Amino acid sequence: MELIKTDIAIVGAGGAGLRTAIAVAESNPDLKVALISKVYPMRSHTCAAEGGAAGVIKSDDSLDLHFNDTVGGGDWLTDQDVVEYFVNEAPKELLQLEHWGCPWSREPNGSVGVRPFGGMKIKRTWFAADKSGFHILHTLFQTSLKYPSIERFDEFFSIDLLMADGRCQGVVAMEMKSGRLFRFQAKAVVLCSGGAGRMFPFSTNGAIKTGDGTAMAYRAGVPTKDMEFVQYHPTGLLATGILLTEGCRGEGGVLRNKDGYRYLQDYGMGPETPLGEPVLKTMELGPRDRLSQAFWHEQQKGNTIPTPWGDSTHLDMTHLGEKHIDERLPLVRDLSITYAGVDPVKEPVPIRPVVHYMMGGIHTNIDAETPVPGLFAVGECACASLNGANRLGSNSLTELLVFGKRAATNAVEFARNRNSEANESELQEQADKVQTKVRELVQRSGGAESIAGLRSEMTKSLEEGAGIYRTEETLQKTCNTIADLRKRYAGIELHDKSNVFNTDLFQALELENMLALAQTVAEGALARKESRGSHQRLDYEARDDEQYLKHTLAYYQGDEAPRIDYHDVVITKSKPGVRDYSGGAK
Ligand code: FUM
Repeated sequence: MELIKTDIAIVGAGGAGLRTAIAVAESNPDLKVALISKVYPMRSHTCAAEGGAAGVIKSDDSLDLHFNDTVGGGDWLTDQDVVEYFVNEAPKELLQLEHWGCPWSREPNGSVGVRPFGGMKIKRTWFAADKSGFHILHTLFQTSLKYPSIERFDEFFSIDLLMADGRCQGVVAMEMKSGRLFRFQAKAVVLCSGGAGRMFPFSTNGAIKTGDGTAMAYRAGVPTKDMEFVQYHPTGLLATGILLTEGCRGEGGVLRNKDGYRYLQDYGMGPETPLGEPVLKTMELGPRDRLSQAFWHEQQKGNTIPTPWGDSTHLDMTHLGEKHIDERLPLVRDLSITYAGVDPVKEPVPIRPVVHYMMGGIHTNIDAETPVPGLFAVGECACASLNGANRLGSNSLTELLVFGKRAATNAVEFARNRNSEANESELQEQADKVQTKVRELVQRSGGAESIAGLRSEMTKSLEEGAGIYRTEETLQKTCNTIADLRKRYAGIELHDKSNVFNTDLFQALELENMLALAQTVAEGALARKESRGSHQRLDYEARDDEQYLKHTLAYYQGDEAPRIDYHDVVITKSKPGVRDYSGGAK
């Protein structure tokens, strides 16, 4: 096994990984950075983000308003010190991107443009048409190329973390093109490996989002936090689940049921407002959890449209006009025509809620530190508790910038006084165990289970049991199914026994990771006997601050279900209140 010694190892080279790497390089150019990613940076999922990134920039907005929207949007499960830090840093990070060349869309007077987004009661989302993630990622990628201290390891699949002397000291990863294992020995490790939406059958997430980093940390003893909070985005393109950005509604798109009726007016999100108003009142600009739940109720009432790909409603943008759509939503138009055969200029587009984002993830604090010294996490894989029970659209791109920088600062500080030769033999022994595990997996024969089969049982079970609405019964069933699937995983056999781009092997490792995390979702949801944000229980319909104003922690217990524990929520200045979206956006 090849040994690579570095100062800071970063797993994942999307927005979070690149921002972290740049900040390390800027802070101390003498520190070596190994940027390890299972895909090329420009193929990471940040690229798929469309609508934009939130940050206060206009004179009618304020940090307090951004704070209040985020805390209320998260149904008070946010840590308010984290939110406060975030809203303060957000504009600086977005301006930094501007200076690095991000082509933000502009107002007619040349200043940075902002658009409305769901749950944000004022326009504060910076955007680059509807390709914001692509442009942000490109900006970060090209900036990272300036720093010789950043060495990229593209198409390296990270398998497990290395621990010695009570701290994290590296990671074992496989070079995908050769099947060779590498031991990256580092003074600090930062996980920037993205979410795990692929646990569900219908998702906006790229196929790479299988929670690998989260599962590595979980196995290494770091609890996951708040995994039961799974975000459904209200407007996934029917059949494919491709994201149709909230920017569509920010630009004035409306949701209609099978009768053409704007149904959100029946769900406490303001009255219908005339089409053609420059900015709509709340309605379609309510938060994602509420809009997805409204779809579910419409479905129960028989107001949705049955299709071979599930029930659907419509996203109507026909009143926006071709010029506006081409300027602000060109990708949406392209995707709708290509994947649904519908031109939004002429017809409403069929949509349904789709799993988009995990509010939960690796338990981190405001410094992006996990409880394991030397291990940090940023972005969707992490849960710094910025998003609480429901993330507001456009906070996540900004989050990975703000906390990427913060993680870098703290990782650099941590690495400052560490030597890198600590406990070589222990690290090698752990790396050898990973090698043995991989060999055994590849060489195993006679297994009757298929990876694809187990995977589809897992996704189906999560959707049925832990979807938009849950009950004790559905959750218990899902917990049982996932536990059983984890046992049956021992019976898989790989058909590809080779070393070169063995996708069978990577899918097996991804499945193992997803199954472990699926258990944290279902067990956490079963234990939380209340409804809050994206976690809605039909058998416990009210939010219960008395019992559950706390974060769920799930601890890995090998083959057993996780041990569930709780952690205090940080409340500083906003006492839990009522989430009111009836008043309208400004
Ligand atoms: O709808 C969107 O453009 C998604 C944005 C986000 O998840 O932040």
